[in-house]
Amino acid sequence: MKWKRILKWTALALLVALFAWFQFAYWSSTNDCGGSIPAGAERMKAIKYCEYGPPEDVLKLEQIAKPVPNDNQVLVRVRAVSLRFYDGGMVQGGIGRLVFGLRKPKNTTPGSDFSGAIEAVGRNVTDFKAGDEVMGVRAGCLAEYICVRSDRAVVSKPRNVSFEQAASIPTALVALQGLRDTGRVKAGQKVLINGASGGVGTFAVQIAKAFGAEVTGVCSTGNLDLVRSIGADHVVDYTKEDYTKSDQRYDVIYDLVDNHSFSERRRILKPGGICVLAGVGGSGMHEETLSRFVGVFSASLRSKFAKEKFIIFGVDINKKDLGVLRDLTESGKVVPAVTKTYPLTETAAAFKYLETGHVRGKIAITVD
Ligand SMILES: NC(=O)c1ccc[n+]([C@@H]2O[C@H](COP(=O)([O-])OP(=O)(O)OC[C@H]3O[C@@H](n4cnc5c(N)ncnc54)[C@H](OP(=O)(O)O)[C@@H]3O)[C@@H](O)[C@H]2O)c1
Repeated sequence: MKWKRILKWTALALLVALFAWFQFAYWSSTNDCGGSIPAGAERMKAIKYCEYGPPEDVLKLEQIAKPVPNDNQVLVRVRAVSLRFYDGGMVQGGIGRLVFGLRKPKNTTPGSDFSGAIEAVGRNVTDFKAGDEVMGVRAGCLAEYICVRSDRAVVSKPRNVSFEQAASIPTALVALQGLRDTGRVKAGQKVLINGASGGVGTFAVQIAKAFGAEVTGVCSTGNLDLVRSIGADHVVDYTKEDYTKSDQRYDVIYDLVDNHSFSERRRILKPGGICVLAGVGGSGMHEETLSRFVGVFSASLRSKFAKEKFIIFGVDINKKDLGVLRDLTESGKVVPAVTKTYPLTETAAAFKYLETGHVRGKIAITVD
């Protein structure tokens, strides 16, 4: 009896503490908006947002202080930024608030995948020089200039593609690592890519082909031509056909959508096959997004008791694999499928398109 009472009061105290912590975290969540540019600082243009909300209401093109590189950084004149799946959630807020700031966004400049040219290097930087063209990942890159640590995710840009295409390459880390490390794709294997026409999917098709696999891409009617053109051996139109009802069997399913049950997908895997749980459909929060998240965890748990493995994949952003992608691009095995570009002044329109969840290939913003 006594223990029951102690437990009840402890649980209540924990709940009150959690509520108080949440209130504190929410109201103390702030950002750098409202500050002024230090006297004498050079200025540059950047996209800023101070509150969460629809992109057309909150994204503003503003003048801010131009950054100055420290001894270990390079100063990059940004030429293009490509949007990736979480950029939309970052601006709208929603569940993204848990990561990007509860009440207000902590980082007030969106964008993370960039390309550009180095304008200056810090004293300790030996691997880059002014004039080098580069691509990489750096939070808050929708600006004319950014500073990046030279030992972080920045590598030289492939010579044979545009700045817009180069900026889209970091997204391909999701495809490269998901297929190579989690799916362990080998030459001659049959690989199905669900969500083949989007930002990650168009890279996944080409990378699986580069590994020597026989690739089936699943997409909607209007994107069949795109998925065929990047090398898929077979295409499935999901508006007309359910890929899990086919009599084909696959070594690997690389799933960017997670819109089928564990049993449906397991049925079309070869014995011992792997389903890489890489995503939950197109960018933005949609009606089905949360239930798909639950589906990902439940499939992974259920596969613990099966021969076929359903493995949750999370990307690791690193310099080495960006180099692998640069080489794949320079060899012509991977061609970034950028289908639409926007000027910096139309950044909000790019975000609106991204949030539809039906982007064709990749989209990029040109920073002129
Ligand atoms: N695991 C990780 O570390 C990681 C990292 C980055 C991204 N992701 C995940 O990867 C997923 C895809 O990202 P993304 O950047 O490629 O998104 P995206 O560029 O917005 O593309 C989404 C694609 O999904 C397709 N799609 C939508 N519904 C579909 C369906 N029912 N069946 C098949 N395809 C469908 C769309 O094709 P249609 O227009 O033809 O419908 C569109 O081409 C996201 O869920 C994201 O969370 C995971």
